[in-house]
Amino acid sequence: MTARPWWQSSVLYQIYPWSFQDSDGDGIGDLRGIATRLDYLVDLGVHAIWLSPIFPSPMADFGYDVAEYCDIDRRFGTLADFDALLASAHARGLKLLLDFVPNHSSDQHPWFVESRSSRDSPKRDWYIWRDPAADGGPPNNWISDFGGPAWTYDARTEQYYSHAFLKEQPDLNWRNPELRAAMLDVLRFWFARGVDGFRIDVLWHIVKHADFPDNPINPGWDPAMGEMHRVFQLHSTDQPEVHDIAADMRAIADAFGREGDDRVLIGEIYLPVERLMRYYGLAGEGVHLPFNFQLIDAAWDARSLARMIAEYEAALPPGGWPNWVLGNHDRPRSATKRGPAQARVAAMLLLTLRGTPTLYYGDELGMTDGVIPPDRVRDPRELREPGLGLGRDPVRTPMPWDDSPHAGFTRGEPWLPLGGDWRERNVAAEADDPHSMLALHRALLSLRRAIPALAVGAIRLLEAEGDVLAYEREQDGERIVVALNLGHDAAPVALPAGQPILSTLRGPLPSSAPSVLRPDEGLILKVDASA
Ligand code: NOJ
Repeated sequence: MTARPWWQSSVLYQIYPWSFQDSDGDGIGDLRGIATRLDYLVDLGVHAIWLSPIFPSPMADFGYDVAEYCDIDRRFGTLADFDALLASAHARGLKLLLDFVPNHSSDQHPWFVESRSSRDSPKRDWYIWRDPAADGGPPNNWISDFGGPAWTYDARTEQYYSHAFLKEQPDLNWRNPELRAAMLDVLRFWFARGVDGFRIDVLWHIVKHADFPDNPINPGWDPAMGEMHRVFQLHSTDQPEVHDIAADMRAIADAFGREGDDRVLIGEIYLPVERLMRYYGLAGEGVHLPFNFQLIDAAWDARSLARMIAEYEAALPPGGWPNWVLGNHDRPRSATKRGPAQARVAAMLLLTLRGTPTLYYGDELGMTDGVIPPDRVRDPRELREPGLGLGRDPVRTPMPWDDSPHAGFTRGEPWLPLGGDWRERNVAAEADDPHSMLALHRALLSLRRAIPALAVGAIRLLEAEGDVLAYEREQDGERIVVALNLGHDAAPVALPAGQPILSTLRGPLPSSAPSVLRPDEGLILKVDASA
C-alpha cells in the first residue's frame, strides 16, 4: 500500500510576494523577507506555501507576465536567495510551491521578441499569429479577460497575435511541439531544484480551438460585468487537447516524486463542476487538484452550501481528492464579503471540509479589502475597466505584522497602501489575543493536525435547515461534528452527545453538545463513542 501523499492532509498558504515582507526597503516584498517569516507560518500551522510568480517580469500584470521562466526577478532576489528560502522552508517541514504561467509569456520574453521579428522566425509559431479578417480587423471576436480585443496587430509582420489577457501577455502556442517541450523543461528545472509542486495559472485557457471560430455572444451581457463577458469563451478555452498537456505535466511531476516526497500540481480553473472534474484526468492522469473556487462566491445559506458540497463530492472521479478555496489574489476577501463574524464561520468551514484547503495570506487575520486612492491604483484590471469593482489591488495590500511604521512590512514606502485597520488588525496584536481571528486559525489548524478525522476523514452531511449547516467527519471510528450558524440569530440544532472542542465565539465553550447555536457561532464537537 502506498502512503497518502502529503498534500492530501495539508493546508496550503498562498503568499503574494509583492506584499508579504520586504527586507531591503524598496517597499516591495521579497524572498529574504519571506524567509524571515517562515516561523510565523510554522506557528500558524500550515504545511505548504504557494508563491505567486517570482520570475523576471516587466510586471505589467504583477509577475503573471514572465520574461524568463528559470530565474528570479531582482525585485524579489536571486536564485541563491530562492535556494536559501527553499532550504529554510524544508528545514522547517514546510513544502514550497511555485506558480507556473503557461498560457502566455511577457511580450519582453526573448521568445516573443524573436517570434515577432519576422514571419520566418524559427519561433514564429511559438505564439499564436493570424492574418487580419477581410476588413483588416482582428481574426475573430475573442475578448481579452481584461477587456478589449484578444488580438493585437503587429504592423511589422502584418499579422495579429492573440492574448487572453493584456497585449503585454502574448499567448503561447501549445500546439507547437518545440514550445511544448521548452515549457515542460521549465517544470523540470524547478523540480530538479527541489520545489514541491506548482499552481498552474489559467490551465483551462492554454489551448484554443484550432480553427479560431467566433465565440457565441452572451445575450445576458451587462457592461457592469466587464467586457470579457460579452461573449462565452466556448472556443478560446477548455479545449479537449488541454488534457494531454496536463497529462504531460503530471508525468513530469510523478517522475520527480518519491514516496513521502510527492510533487503536486494544482490547476487554476474557473469552470462549472462537471467540466472542472475532467482536469483530474479520466484515469487520474491530470492535475492532482483542480482548484475548486465555489466557496468564494457561494450563497451563504445552509441549503445551498449543503447542495454545493454534496454535488461537488458526488462529481469527484474515483480517487479524486477534493480541495477548497475561500480567497486569492484575484477575488474579494472573505471578511469583506461576509463581515467579521461570519468570516470566522467561513474559516471554520474552509478548514473542516473534506479536502485540501488553501488559505490566502492575511485572511487568517481577517484582513478586509483595502481602499486604494485613485492615484495609487496599480492593477491593470482596474486601470483598463475602472469603477466596475474588478480591480485586485484591494486584496493585495501589505501584510500587517505589527503597529510600527508601515506595519513592519517595509522600512520604505509600501508599493500599495496598508489596509485601513492595520493598527489594530496585525499579527502582533492578534497573537496576544486568545480570541482573535489568528488564534481561531491556529486552533483550527492545530485540530486538523491532531485529529485525522478532520484532516482526511469521510464527510457526511447532517443538517441543512434555516441557518444551520452541520456535518460529520469520521476516521477509524473517531467522529467529529461541525455545526455552523450562518446567521446572526440563535438557531436550534440537533447534535449527537459529545464534547465541544472549539467555537468561533469568545468566552467559555459549552460543557456539552448544545441544543442551540449562538448567533454567528461555529462549533466543533467530538462525538461521544457511545452516541
Ligand atoms: C490568473 C491570475 O491569478 C491572475 O492574477 C492573472 O492576472 C491572470 N491569470 C493572467 O495570468
